[in-house]
Amino acid sequence: MHGFKYRHGKLSCEQVALSDLVRKHGTPLYVYSAGTLADHYQRLDQALAPVPHQICFAMKSNSNLAVLRTLADLGSGFDIVSAGELARVIAAGGDARKCVFAGVGKTEAEIAFALRQGIYSFNVESEPELARINLVAGRMHTQAPVALRVNPNVDAHTHAKITTGTYENKFGIAFENIEGIYERARRLKNLKLRGVQMHIGSQLTEVKPFADAIIKVLPMVARLAKRHELEFFSIGGGMGIVYDPALASGEADWWKQKRTRGLLTPARYANTLVPLLRNLKLRILVEPGRFISGNAGVLVTRVEHVKQTGRKRFVIVDAAMNDLIRPAFYDSYHEIVPLRLARGKTVKSDVVGPICESGDSFCKDRPLPAVKEGDLLALMSAGAYGSVMGSNYNSRPLAAEVLVRGARTSLIRRRQSISDIWAGETLAAWQR
Ligand code: LLP
Repeated sequence: MHGFKYRHGKLSCEQVALSDLVRKHGTPLYVYSAGTLADHYQRLDQALAPVPHQICFAMKSNSNLAVLRTLADLGSGFDIVSAGELARVIAAGGDARKCVFAGVGKTEAEIAFALRQGIYSFNVESEPELARINLVAGRMHTQAPVALRVNPNVDAHTHAKITTGTYENKFGIAFENIEGIYERARRLKNLKLRGVQMHIGSQLTEVKPFADAIIKVLPMVARLAKRHELEFFSIGGGMGIVYDPALASGEADWWKQKRTRGLLTPARYANTLVPLLRNLKLRILVEPGRFISGNAGVLVTRVEHVKQTGRKRFVIVDAAMNDLIRPAFYDSYHEIVPLRLARGKTVKSDVVGPICESGDSFCKDRPLPAVKEGDLLALMSAGAYGSVMGSNYNSRPLAAEVLVRGARTSLIRRRQSISDIWAGETLAAWQR
């Protein structure tokens, strides 16, 4: 499902016209569909039903409290990467006992906090980290649940900046060293070996790299499970989404459209992976971020100026790379559509933000309807790695966020005020 469609010529989120939300909350504005979040979560949950499993939403993709709560209410756990993220889960009313804590640089304070909150497992990325967790747990007179993150050294065929499962990356522990480290970890008495984890990259659009990685590590996982009485195997996140679903064609249900051919649907993912995992008799964890949140959000922006130079037409909008950095950072594609359905001629346009960087661009020479000053546009598929990667660069306030459920709407993050931006700053003592 995709909660964003044209209704009576107006781009809407579920039953609400985005232009109505803009009237109330201004731009740039992130809008999320609760129905889409739930639909994606449930599709995956159902597809994995043949194996005991737990979905741990990768909240780095979208950590708004209301988004977390929407998923927590459906039973989701969370893949966290910092104490801040765990604190957010708790603030949102989520369950720390369903959280797995990843990341290569956990501090002692973060480990202690996660232990106090009773997380399900630390996904450990190195031997020194294992020693540190053992030490902190010892001081707290407790046992820390751990899983080692195995780096299977397979190529995920995705963008270099979001590949994680090869020996070129800082993540995980080399496949060859895993069993030895589990043996040594066994002797660390403040650890409880609970599982094995793996994650090979993000925005994977085919199931094969997942299957290759699982097939490679499976015999080892089975041996480890037996020897160390493990409880779970996490196969990570990384399911890719469609970023250019030709939404403007007004198609009703893009899951059913031809262009989803080749798309990594939950059914395709599960049909290939479940048979591989079934005999393991372990609980399977998955850590999807983008698959759940990506197409559940858009960023709405207003056209400030249209600037025609010698060769180019620049559509200058009020959103910028500080609001959505993905195109600048990864050259990634986000579909851009007008809030009012436009048919007819298109013009090649560069949609750019007001920030003083040439990289502050959302697309180049893309055929778009001929918009004018004041028109509203939506940057699609902005629900994952959008708002969370926002910054105050150029002293621009963070955008507001709204959650829609059916006909109901709720402001779930107020627009930052300009003075909020420097709230933590002061003049130096000698300047006051
Ligand atoms: N698990 C681990 C251990 C991860 O490192 C990640 C993502 C995930 C799960 C979730 O991956 P997903 O299902 O969302 O693909 N900012 C980049 C993506 C960075 C992903 C980092 N790790 C982007 O905008 O494309």
